[in-house]
Parts: sequence; C-alpha cells; structure tokens
Amino acid sequence: MKSIILAGGIGSRLFPLSREYYPKQFIKFKALGKSLFQLTFERTLKLSNIKDIFIITNEKHKFLVLGQIEELGYNFNEENILIEPIGKNTLPAIYYGVKVIKEKDVIAVFPSDHLIKDEDEFIKTVKEGVKLADNYLITFGIKPNKPHTGYGYIKPGEKLDIGYKVEEFKEKPDLETAKEYVKKGYLWNSGMFLFKTDIFEEEVKKLCPEVYEAFKEDDINEVYRKVPDISIDYGIMEKSDRVAVIPINIKWSDLGSFDAIYEVFDKDDNGNIIHGENIVLNSKHNLVYTHGGKLVSLIGIDDLIIIDTRDALLICNKGESQKVKDVVKYLKQKG
Ligand code: GDD
Ligand code: MG
Repeated sequence: MKSIILAGGIGSRLFPLSREYYPKQFIKFKALGKSLFQLTFERTLKLSNIKDIFIITNEKHKFLVLGQIEELGYNFNEENILIEPIGKNTLPAIYYGVKVIKEKDVIAVFPSDHLIKDEDEFIKTVKEGVKLADNYLITFGIKPNKPHTGYGYIKPGEKLDIGYKVEEFKEKPDLETAKEYVKKGYLWNSGMFLFKTDIFEEEVKKLCPEVYEAFKEDDINEVYRKVPDISIDYGIMEKSDRVAVIPINIKWSDLGSFDAIYEVFDKDDNGNIIHGENIVLNSKHNLVYTHGGKLVSLIGIDDLIIIDTRDALLICNKGESQKVKDVVKYLKQKG
C-alpha cells in the first residue's frame, strides 16, 4: 500500500504557537516527546515501506519535514516530498500525490495533525479496509462525543462486508445540525482515506472537472494557478455515491485548536495545564503555555487559554479557540 501524508496546512487556529514557518504539525509537544508529524510518519511506516510514502507540503516546510524524519533515524528520499507552489487545500494536494504515484494501487491518505492513541487497532482497521477498495472510496468514522462543528459528519447506510455504504456526508455543519446528527448516530469523518487510484481519478473527473483539467498542465505552477481551492470533503466526499465508511474505535483527536489540546493532555489537580515556569494561584481549568522567556503569574483566573510566545501573546476564553484563526486572517489582511 502507498501512503500520502498531508503536511501543508498552516494550523491557523493554533496561533501564535503555530506559525506560517512553523505550523502545528511540526511543534514538539512536551507530553508527546515528538511532533504530530513525526508520530504520523512512524504510524504510516507500519502500513507502507518508506519508499512508498509521499509527503505533500510546500517549499517553506520541506526542510522541517526532512529534518524531523532524520531525527527519527530515517533517510527519506527527497523525491517523495512533493512541493506545492501554493496551498489549494486537500483535494489538489491529494490529487497531486495520486498523479505522481501514477500506478494503479491502493493509497492511504493521512493528515499530519492527528493524535491517535490505539495504533494497533488503527493499523488493523486500515488494512481491513482494503477489502472495500475495489468499489469504494473509504472513510474511517469516529463515534462523536459532542456536536463539534469543525468535522465532517457521515450517515452510515447499507451494511457492507465490513463497514457501511455512506448515505450522506456533510462537511462542517452548523451547531444545530451537528447536534441533530450526533443524536441520529452519524459518525465523524476522521479525515483519513483509503482508495484505489483509478476510482479516485474517475470521481475527480466526474465531480470536480476543474481540478481534473488543471492537472493536465505540464508545469506544476500552472496547475496550481488554475486549480480551485477545495477540500476533498466538499469536492468529492459530499458528492460521490461511491463512498463507504468503516467505524474505527480509537482514541483520536485532531489537535486543531487550543480547546482540543486542553481536552487531550493531562491536567493537574486544579484542572490546569501549565507549560513553562509560571506561578498559578487559586486558578482553575486554564491552559497556559509560555515560551516567551518571561514569567507569567495567574491569580484567581479560571477557564482561560494563555499562550505567550516571543513576539505575540494570546488570551482567549476556553470554548472560543476556534476563532483564533480570525486573528490570523486579520493579520494577513493587514499585510
Ligand atoms: N499539502 C497540503 N496542502 N496539505 C494541506 C493543505 C494544503 O493546501 N490544506 C490542509 N492540509 C493538511 C493539513 O496540514 C492537515 O494535515 C490535513 O491536510 C487536513 O486539513 P485541515 O485543514 O486540518 O482539515 P480539517 O481538520 O478542517 O477537516 C478535515 O479533517 C477533519 C478531521 O480532522 C476534514 O476531512 C473533516 O471532514 C474531518 O472531520
Ligand atoms: Mg485538521
């Protein structure tokens, strides 16, 4: 099996920790000892030979990718790092990988910003998934524990050999709809996919002809100038009638926001996560990360996210960290 690792996102909801030049998938969390990208790479090696792993990223992050793999003790072929001239979201990124791989084969696609606790179960389920690959694009479904609006939702339909045919796929619904979906037994899309190259290509041609056409250009700069900015979820998964879902019972988290980080990592007796030399008195349920070389003291502060870096400080209510990306948007507009 071949694997594609998507490592070109900028992780704007983790600003100021995640930066254009150092996005979240490369940040080394103390509690993990490695970056999410490194963990993803090691996990992928359990499914694919190193020569069959393709990493889609951009020029700015190429050396982070190579450096972090080297740190793990592997020698990675630079030709397997595909450089996008600009990010156009996950559909062009995945299709770029598929075009370079060329041969008819089964490909697994993995984001590089996920934390997965039960790796053996994960590997077993992905391997089993190959059974469905002759007929379906395969998604892996996670049982939701809340109406998160940052995920795709999947309604399992007709039972298959393993898993189900997908009756409906809805990307990032609003809160009311998400609540309804959770009640009705929909699954979260884990963002990991498995498919045969020829079926994927047929679906891109049928459902996103602009993407299909753009990739006919010889020059990759021209391809990316033409190709629309679209995710695989909106572009293919919502529209295709050849999607299957395999429920996967693992502890999984997209560490996409500071609230997600707070949920996943261990907390002290007061429900605080404190990273850095800080003084915290009479304060509960905070996430404090300082890396800016100064001491931060909290007195009687509850439910805040405080992220202090060398040149930027973020203070945000817990539960509102999805909006951090608006700060980045604002900064970009300001130029
Ligand atoms: N190379 C490349 N180029 N990679 C990209 C690009 C790009 O333009 N844009 C995003 N990525 C990478 C990110 O780094 C991440 O690893 C992965 O693709 C997924 O992108 P996200 O931007 O994190 O997607 P999401 O989390 O909002 O939504 C997706 O994942 C959810 C689960 O985590 C969707 O598939 C949802 O349906 C799903 O529930
Ligand atoms: Mg994500």
